[in-house]
Amino acid sequence: MVTVIVGGQWGDEGKGKVVSYLCLKDRPDFVARAGTGPNAGHTVEYEGKKYGLRLTPSGFIYQKARLLIGAGVLVDPNVMLREIESLGIGKRTGIDERCGIIEAEHIERDKGSAFLAGKIGSTGTGCGPANMDRANRSLKQAREVADLRSYLTDVSRELNEALDMGKGVFVEGSQGFGLSVLYGTYPYVTSKDTTASTALADVGLGPKKAGEVILVFKSFPSRVGSGPFPTEMDQEEAERLGIVEYGTVTGRRRRSGHFDFEMARTSVAINSATQIALTCLDYVDPGCRGVSSYDKLSQKAKAFVEEIEARVRVPVTIISTGPSMEETIDLRGEKL
Ligand code: GTP
Ligand code: IMP
Ligand code: MG
Repeated sequence: MVTVIVGGQWGDEGKGKVVSYLCLKDRPDFVARAGTGPNAGHTVEYEGKKYGLRLTPSGFIYQKARLLIGAGVLVDPNVMLREIESLGIGKRTGIDERCGIIEAEHIERDKGSAFLAGKIGSTGTGCGPANMDRANRSLKQAREVADLRSYLTDVSRELNEALDMGKGVFVEGSQGFGLSVLYGTYPYVTSKDTTASTALADVGLGPKKAGEVILVFKSFPSRVGSGPFPTEMDQEEAERLGIVEYGTVTGRRRRSGHFDFEMARTSVAINSATQIALTCLDYVDPGCRGVSSYDKLSQKAKAFVEEIEARVRVPVTIISTGPSMEETIDLRGEKL
């Protein structure tokens, strides 16, 4: 069975937290990373430690999972090898031999571009220029990088064979719906599509393989970099609400806004979401921080969850009330 987890807003919805929680709970045999590449920063807080992951699947904390990087994902060997070493996950990591490779030159082109780094506000991690070279058919692939040799695999084949044997697979997207080059706020977007269909294609699975599509929404969405944000609030309001955040990769302050129901509906449709994971409910009512059962939520918090379900028409099955694993309400048993 395949569970796809993707972002429903402008990234940083808390996919890292949600994926790691679900992996500890559901114990999938494989966690495969989809999405653009090392422009992502997923935060995982577990057993008192905080990890900022750029390429490693957030499910790494479940020790038995095999960790895969799909062919669609761009790999920066320096970032990848550093994460493999610091997390001690060499034995269970597999990188598709067809992954595109980010080299120093791509980072220079990204950071030095008045358009990408300047106007769009890219992360400067080389993803945009590397995807340009991929479209140009001149980008190096992982199979050509000696330092990656011991990790190379065929992710698509591994996953399809595992599914034939009835194993569990998680597909973890990065960025979010509003950053899709097809459906987002073009041109203020990342360099590829970020929806569930592309996440599946990134790891070499076809659309009929998806069992569940979990779309992650943040109670107060955020955006880093430039571009439209119809429900944006001013900085003072974000400070008053105590919801100011800084980027994991770039350290930039994230812009904050109110929940956008219209965007959520479009995002649900294009991703064919079957469930919603709602994060940062403690932003709506700080008194809910750390609550792990629905009954203990305040009336205000419950009303917000119910409004989303009524207006977006997909069940909210996972609710996050804080960054760490225990700060989660899991309603899948009741709602599915
Ligand atoms: P991208 O792949 O870059 O889109 O990131 P992401 O979706 O994995 O999210 P990221 O970790 O960048 O940002 C989410 C932030 O919110 C992190 O600092 C998390 O630790 C934090 N977080 C996640 N869930 C909750 C929650 O329920 N409440 C609070 N207060 N913080 C949360
Ligand atoms: P790029 O993907 O680095 O080219 O950046 C393009 C746009 O996407 C910029 O607005 C970035 O801030 C945004 N972006 C890319 N990756 C992420 C992410 O993981 N979280 C949030 N924003 C992102
Ligand atoms: Mg992030």
